Amino acid sequence: MKIVLLGPPGAGKGTQAKSISTKYSIPHISTGDIFRKNISENTPLGIEAKSYMDAGKLVPDEVTINMVKDRLVQDDCKNGYLLDGFPRTVEQAEALQEFLSARGEKLDTALLIDVQKEFILERMTGRRVCPSCGASYHIKFNTTKIAGKCDLCGADLIQRKDDTEETVKERLDVYESQTQPLINFYKDKDMLSVVDGTQEINQVFESICKLLEGVI
Ligand code: AP5
Ligand code: ZN
Repeated sequence: MKIVLLGPPGAGKGTQAKSISTKYSIPHISTGDIFRKNISENTPLGIEAKSYMDAGKLVPDEVTINMVKDRLVQDDCKNGYLLDGFPRTVEQAEALQEFLSARGEKLDTALLIDVQKEFILERMTGRRVCPSCGASYHIKFNTTKIAGKCDLCGADLIQRKDDTEETVKERLDVYESQTQPLINFYKDKDMLSVVDGTQEINQVFESICKLLEGVI
């Protein structure tokens, strides 16, 4: 199964991706996570991506597209994958279509987690993430068993540098101008599924599973 997850920053893509990837045994490929890993390891890719990410801007298409193509030809992607945070521009979506059709493959669906703007700021500023395993929590909506510690690995949680109010506003503007057009891109190809992302986390997951049963 090959799925693209769409949705504004803070829609819950990362949160749902973890559960989808476990249930359907497909790798969760998050471009944001790959960039953050490269930043923490100080690689040339990380150094290039950092200034864009800290400012809430997109990393240039060419860099991102090549990085994703390299990832999609790895062995664990043979039976499918879940793309989280890619594509994010029409150019990236077209590159993905070309990549797939050259291999005689296609996406099963582009799944939009639909959340209106007014929910986003509280979700983002209250988010805490695990720097060790990547798990994501929220100080109000998705709390940990021990305050400030990751339930999965026990590491101290941190706040992402791009989760400040100012940067979140910039990321929302970038989403509206560059990523939102992908909704029509996939709708026109009859590939779009939409789930209401304002429900509770478990309910969103249930809705996603129902939708996916209809497309696979
Ligand atoms: P990325 O890491 O992809 O960030 P994003 O798309 O902005 O998405 P987020 O991770 O912020 O949100 P999410 O939807 O995963 O929400 P989450 O599940 O954590 O990208 C970061 C940066 O990398 C970009 O700005 C860009 O610079 C660069 N980049 C990445 N991909 C790129 C690309 N393709 N091209 C160019 N540049 C790229 O949930 C958010 C919070 O809400 C959490 O605290 C969670 O616990 C809580 N929550 C989740 N669901 C619910 C719910 N149903 N109810 C209540 N709370 C909830
Ligand atoms: Zn952890």
